[in-house]
Amino acid sequence: MPFEIIRNDITKVSVDAIVNAANKTLLGGGGVDGAIHRAAGPGLLEECRTLGGCKTGEAKLTKGYNLPARYVIHTVGPVWRGGGYNEEKLLADCYRNSLALAKEHKLENIAFPLISTGAFGYPKDKALKTAVSVISDFLMEHDMMVFLVVYDKDSFQLSEKLFNSIKQFIDDNYMENIEEHPYSMESRLLKGLAVSERVLKESDFLSAEAYSETIKPQRKLEDLIDQMDETFSQMLLRLIDQKGMTDAQTYKRANIDRKLFSKIRNDIHYKPSKHTAIAFAIALKLNLDETKDLLMRAGYALSRSSKFDIIIEFFICEGNYNIFEINEALFAFDQKLLGA
Ligand code: APR
Repeated sequence: MPFEIIRNDITKVSVDAIVNAANKTLLGGGGVDGAIHRAAGPGLLEECRTLGGCKTGEAKLTKGYNLPARYVIHTVGPVWRGGGYNEEKLLADCYRNSLALAKEHKLENIAFPLISTGAFGYPKDKALKTAVSVISDFLMEHDMMVFLVVYDKDSFQLSEKLFNSIKQFIDDNYMENIEEHPYSMESRLLKGLAVSERVLKESDFLSAEAYSETIKPQRKLEDLIDQMDETFSQMLLRLIDQKGMTDAQTYKRANIDRKLFSKIRNDIHYKPSKHTAIAFAIALKLNLDETKDLLMRAGYALSRSSKFDIIIEFFICEGNYNIFEINEALFAFDQKLLGA
């Protein structure tokens, strides 16, 4: 999974580089800066003294000394002054320049704290949005493992509007331990499709043309019948072709690494985890019915007694297929993230 959000103390994360939310002097401070200097030992400060400080938005690299990380990338976030002083661009520059420095040094993985969201007062939901947007753009073009390390839960905040919409959707749909009786793939598809076609055709709230344009199920019965014995891998590869996507676009949008994708491509009977199957449905921007069809090929069904499934359904119904934003929400609701 190229991008993960984890709960941890960044000084304990064993990666090629951890990023320090420093100040312009680079001579240490409180918060994560203080924690990193304490854990790294005096050697870090000695090297920082030779760097001549750092401008806001820029990034400089030192060794990691006593840290489990090999390097520390020091960057200086903007102080939040209400949003009218270029804060968003400067914060984005912190992530962009730190990633560029890691790439320049051929590092394979990197861990960020939520820069500027402590002493510098940057609103946490806005900072998270900027961090996720810069990191996900970078990962579309480069192969690297990126961790966003959240130290304490209250320093992680979705936008209130998004959080409340998801909470409402869960409240409306979640059913404690209902007995799921997923039909077999064939009978659910045929039963579901035939019923919905008949019911909708006979109903009088839809004119015939409205039915045929908007509501008619996305799949034709005859297509379903001749695709019925497709495996998950065959259906996935067919959909990638139909959507004119490349393999790389698909597995990057699914937050899946290349190795796992090639396993699936080379084994028509490969059985993915439910999370991986859903990640590909998101990458291919499938609607809810298509998602259920793809999941069924791997033997899974979306369930009303799973908050994870309901959150996925929320984003599909919203038409939001940004897997990094979906993972932010899953993290906020203490669910496993999407991807391998
Ligand atoms: N691991 C991971 N994250 C941490 C840790 C830790 N050990 N300690 C704190 N954090 C989180 C905070 O919860 C916050 O979400 O790091 C985020 C950034 O907070 P600060 O460390 O206060 O950094 P920032 O807001 O960028 O302010 C930087 O504070 O420490 C001084 O010298 C620093 O002047 C600079 C300013």
